[in-house]
Amino acid sequence: MALPIPAPASADIGVTGMGVMGSNLARNLARNGYKVAIHNRSSAKTEEVYTEHGSEGEFIPSENMEDFVGSLSRPRVAIIMVKAGAPTDAVIEELASRMEEGDIIVDCGNSLFTDTRRREAALKERGLHFVGTGVSGGEEGALWGPSIMPGGSPQSYDRLGPMFEKISAHVDGEPCCTYIGADGAGHFVKMVHNGIEYADMQVIGEAYDLLRRSLGLSPAEIADIFAEWNKGELDSYLMEVSVEVLRQVDAKTDKPLVDVIVDAAAQKGTGAWTVQTALDLGVPVTGIGEATFARGLSSSPAQRAAAQGFAGEAQEWNVEDREAFIEDVRKALYASKLVAYSQGFNEIQAAAEAYGWDINLGALARIWRGGCIIRAQFLNEITRAYDADAKLPLLIGDSYFYERIVDALPSWRRVVSQATLHGVPVPVFSSSLSYYDGVRSERLPAALIQGQRDFFGAHTYQRTDAEGAFHTMWAEDGRAEVQW
Ligand SMILES: NC(=O)c1ccc[n+]([C@@H]2O[C@H](COP(=O)([O-])OP(=O)(O)OC[C@H]3O[C@@H](n4cnc5c(N)ncnc54)[C@H](OP(=O)(O)O)[C@@H]3O)[C@@H](O)[C@H]2O)c1
Repeated sequence: MALPIPAPASADIGVTGMGVMGSNLARNLARNGYKVAIHNRSSAKTEEVYTEHGSEGEFIPSENMEDFVGSLSRPRVAIIMVKAGAPTDAVIEELASRMEEGDIIVDCGNSLFTDTRRREAALKERGLHFVGTGVSGGEEGALWGPSIMPGGSPQSYDRLGPMFEKISAHVDGEPCCTYIGADGAGHFVKMVHNGIEYADMQVIGEAYDLLRRSLGLSPAEIADIFAEWNKGELDSYLMEVSVEVLRQVDAKTDKPLVDVIVDAAAQKGTGAWTVQTALDLGVPVTGIGEATFARGLSSSPAQRAAAQGFAGEAQEWNVEDREAFIEDVRKALYASKLVAYSQGFNEIQAAAEAYGWDINLGALARIWRGGCIIRAQFLNEITRAYDADAKLPLLIGDSYFYERIVDALPSWRRVVSQATLHGVPVPVFSSSLSYYDGVRSERLPAALIQGQRDFFGAHTYQRTDAEGAFHTMWAEDGRAEVQW
């Protein structure tokens, strides 16, 4: 079927990139009453979407970019949903060269926020708004209501906001979409969201592994435990997904599917970006970092093969009180997860300061309650904590969360030490506990490190009892200290 001739300049919004995300977003917009222009590099895909879903709402399909831009009402709004990187740059240029001052280009792909900042600045020079927008929720979310994190100018949100809020997920009647902040802020928070997702998935994986190796439970039995946990403070989409995965039986072998899946976790890059950016900002996101490295370890076949047969368990693991141990693991999981979120929010705070973004962290947690992969009950409490103190320096220091950490602490220590004694890797459980112990320490060995740096590099140090920078003349007899 050939595409119809587009009606001139009447679409409320357009979507270019008819992959699974773009087509679903376009269908979501159309279902919500917007007239949607659709386009794809290869027009067969546009035709396919129009043929299969044209009856779901008002679509204006176009075979080429000229017609696509021509079919948008002014000021034009065009969403790009293509592969991040060079393809996104190419499509931006195709659109920008056909657009006019005041028009809005929205990138809903998973772009790196520094690319978004560069693109926003370049398009501003040409009089165009560029809105880097984080979209979470995968293909189902895009179709039925994602969590949407738009950056860019506040003026562009005046035009985009009502549409995005309408098509987003809703929780307690509130849309899971809010203006995040200027230029790359939307893509930045989406990146950290994905990093947190890595940590959240890993802590669930560590709990599963511990229960399996310590108690010899089957995946289905662990699914039952997780289903119970999911009724309480650990209630989350990722927990729900884990229950489903652990219950799944492989049709071919009749084994639990999880035992048939190759244990090498893949990654598309947003976890690594979160960690790289945190390193640049000097923010310790140990939970996300360890989760990302754990995927790396799982996907290192040569190293894993070389280590098979290495000495292992130091002790036989006979758990005396099974119920108590299961509860310990639950609390260790909860506390480790809290630390990962706390660290992720610190990374956002640091970026907001570095890039001049006015990010409302309470509102951010609110829009993560629905649509997205990390949606969870306890995000309500994160919203409450940041609404009470917008500049809260440490999420786990909020009284509600701190009480839970204190309650979990003995369990957390038991689990990490038992796992260590029995040779079970718990990278996020243990690094999160170390972070907790580090951040609460009155004195850290960093003083010695400063001394070492001053010794070999004259990097200077500060004193606890005086202002200024100091250097000790290490090579001299008597080693005098000078103010630098
Ligand atoms: N999948 C998810 O769960 C998810 C979730 C959130 C965000 N995202 C992000 O959403 C974006 C789209 O994801 P997706 O999974 O729907 O599709 P995708 O596989 O990442 O991209 C496919 C689309 O990109 C187009 N494309 C590729 N190179 C192009 C180029 N040089 N010029 C023009 N178009 C080009 C393709 O057109 P052709 O058909 O002509 O090849 C197709 O429409 C990505 O940035 C992705 O990271 C995905």
